[in-house]
Amino acid sequence: MAKKDIDWSNLSFGYQKTDYRYVSYFKDGKWDDGALTTDENIVLNECAGVLQYAQTVFEGLKAYTTSDGRTVVFRPDLNAERLIQSAERLMIPPVSKEQFLDAVKKVVKANEDFVPPYGSGATLYVRPYIFGSNAVIGVKPADEYQFRILCTPVGPYFKGGVKPITIRVCDYDRAAPHGTGHIKAGLNYAMSLYPIVEAHKEGYDENMYLDAATRTYVEETGGANFLFVTKDGKVVTPKSNSILPSITRRSLVQVAREYLGLEAEERPIALEEVKDFAECGLCGTAAVISPVGKIVDHGKEICFPSGMSEMGPVTKKLYETLTGIQMGTIKAPEGWIVEI
Ligand code: PLP
Ligand code: COI
Repeated sequence: MAKKDIDWSNLSFGYQKTDYRYVSYFKDGKWDDGALTTDENIVLNECAGVLQYAQTVFEGLKAYTTSDGRTVVFRPDLNAERLIQSAERLMIPPVSKEQFLDAVKKVVKANEDFVPPYGSGATLYVRPYIFGSNAVIGVKPADEYQFRILCTPVGPYFKGGVKPITIRVCDYDRAAPHGTGHIKAGLNYAMSLYPIVEAHKEGYDENMYLDAATRTYVEETGGANFLFVTKDGKVVTPKSNSILPSITRRSLVQVAREYLGLEAEERPIALEEVKDFAECGLCGTAAVISPVGKIVDHGKEICFPSGMSEMGPVTKKLYETLTGIQMGTIKAPEGWIVEI
């Protein structure tokens, strides 16, 4: 298939309409078979559950062109599982894992011309989402829903690509109450909009959120989990009940142990100990691994030894191994790569 005429290498992380999207309707207690459509617009009742009570959940994954020209997606089964968990917590009827995986395959296949070529630095971002669509005025779940998947070709999430970024310790809490961090829902993100706009105005790329109860432990950023490397080369990531269980982070812990022979540990990380780490990165589908050069805690600077010009050595190995697995140049663990 001929790829679209797009300047792939200069894409930023933004929305661009592709030819097809997937839609399935939930009505009378069941999901229909779903289909592709070329219409990118949605017409909703003014009182739709999503508009009044933000009854909506979403996911994010990517499609890649491998070095030998195949189109693949990375661990979509884990996105399916997390979407189901998110849906259940918001009283949204979950779609089955089978329907999710079938829908991802269909919509990526239909948009294959938009999957950026190998080596371009861009990928096709795939955004599944479910929302309450019928009118509800009392506080209760909707009876009708839409499960949709849109695709958009994207470049790096942070401007500057893999150059280290600066973040600040944030005074606001992300709306991810204890025990519900696994919910990837619109409302959690809406509550992070004010802090992210403020952070950008002050010259920071992201916010470091702390645990809401004690404000002493590191949680995550607005759109990615943290990953640290100790001075003796151990990978450490925060363990918390109120952060999103990042598929990228879980994959990187396995890559660290099984591909790089490193020790990797998930545990609570106090803000106080961050100054002792050698490297820091943000990991996620959109962020991949974005190195952090500096964290500013109310005027007090924590500068990582890896500096502001390059990724630290362990972060770089993790990045190269993960992206190698995703692009097919390094053998993947069983089941990680799904061909379209
Ligand atoms: N944390 C938040 C708040 C996110 O939005 C994301 C992105 O989905 C992540 C972490 C990373 O998760 P994943 O690696 O599954 O994309
Ligand atoms: C992702 O990495 O998929 C995210 O959802 C992060 C951000 C775009 C919200």
